[in-house]
Amino acid sequence: MKITPQVRNNICLNAHPVGCKRDVQMQAAQARLLASNIGQKTGIMPYAQEKRPKHVLVIGCSTGYGLASRIVAAFTYHAATVGFSFERMPSSTKTGSPGWYANEAFDQEAAADGLFSVTYNMDAFSNEAKAQAIDTARKNGFAYDLVIYSLASPVRTDPKTGQMYRSVIKPIGAPYTGTTVDVFTGKLKQAEIQPATPDEIAETVKVMGGEDWQLWVDALASANVLDNGAMTVAYSYIGPPLSWQIYRDGTIGHAKADLEAKAHQIDSNYKDRGLRAFVSINKAVVTRSSAVIPIIPLYVSTLFKVMKEKNLHEGTLDQMVRLFTERLYVPNKDKVPVDEEGRIRLDDWELQDSVQKEVNARLARITEENLRQLADIDGFRRDFLQAHGFEISGVDYDAEFDPLE
Ligand SMILES: NC(=O)c1ccc[n+]([C@@H]2O[C@H](COP(=O)([O-])OP(=O)(O)OC[C@H]3O[C@@H](n4cnc5c(N)ncnc54)[C@H](O)[C@@H]3O)[C@@H](O)[C@H]2O)c1
Repeated sequence: MKITPQVRNNICLNAHPVGCKRDVQMQAAQARLLASNIGQKTGIMPYAQEKRPKHVLVIGCSTGYGLASRIVAAFTYHAATVGFSFERMPSSTKTGSPGWYANEAFDQEAAADGLFSVTYNMDAFSNEAKAQAIDTARKNGFAYDLVIYSLASPVRTDPKTGQMYRSVIKPIGAPYTGTTVDVFTGKLKQAEIQPATPDEIAETVKVMGGEDWQLWVDALASANVLDNGAMTVAYSYIGPPLSWQIYRDGTIGHAKADLEAKAHQIDSNYKDRGLRAFVSINKAVVTRSSAVIPIIPLYVSTLFKVMKEKNLHEGTLDQMVRLFTERLYVPNKDKVPVDEEGRIRLDDWELQDSVQKEVNARLARITEENLRQLADIDGFRRDFLQAHGFEISGVDYDAEFDPLE
């Protein structure tokens, strides 16, 4: 069948197998090129550095920040990688989810480079996933020296009780009204979201907070498959004040505050083993769910336009390159640079005064008429489609495909 994007209410329901795979291949090529650029500049290839990731576990490995982390770990540093994600497999009538194809492509690229990689399609919140990660390390005789926690999920089943929790993106205390844009029609509209109930806040913390991250670290540590001096990093977002009512001060922000608290707990619980736990505050990028949060598409597309004009724009791979090369694995530097609260900041360029002032000035006068002039709505739409394997260069979208291939 010919596969064209099926987008409903800013959600894309299908994926293009060849496009998703090609996207991973292109990111892997960029990560390999980065290795040789670093080698030329410093005289030492990143995979020959003493300080480098060697055995990396990526929880949430198939798309977005997790995939980019795994690509840099493997193709820039030649790390062995073990990935967990939860993706929909294809059927004869329906394509798989984008990450399904991305995982296949990742494993193929890794095999082509002779790198160890194994990918599990399992619920990462389950005890079975943790047992599988332990088993994989033991069977292959290694311990993890880097654990990336990059889950974004609407639901979590607590493995102890079997109870299912749902996360919501809602304000707390008062309704939120914000402008949102349909990135496919360019129409602006006001969206109102009612405040979360106390149960909804607690459930969002259960799903997107740090409890499961801590369970992972505890399981790996007690099975002795965490290297001495290992690092673990979970991702978060802060964003500008205009988004705080819906994000940072809302349900998801509560969950992220819990994630930060768990980083400190993990750090102090495993001090004697030299384990370091970090939250990395990353930049806003376009992923599969970015288009459904009010204000985010409008803010992000305006941000993109401003950052591109200032030559500061970054995608997931660029961000992860900075995380690995300028934060986690800086040669001859023992300490990971962090802010006063111990967080790694990769949102430093996004939150620069000059960037935020310009974004705010534009948002104050944005209309449907000047939208394309002030915001990179086409860039947002393209990134969104590319996250599903569409509009990737070099792919023949007129060709017929079998989603099962
Ligand atoms: N997107 C942004 O702009 C942004 C910015 C800063 C920080 N972050 C943070 O980065 C992290 C990753 O977000 P993303 O945007 O890359 O998301 P994403 O949707 O692209 O990726 C989420 C990953 O989680 C996996 N996953 C979800 N539920 C799972 C389950 N039950 N078991 C196993 N795997 C599961 C998916 O398969 C996928 O690999 C999140 O913590 C998010 O808050 C995102």
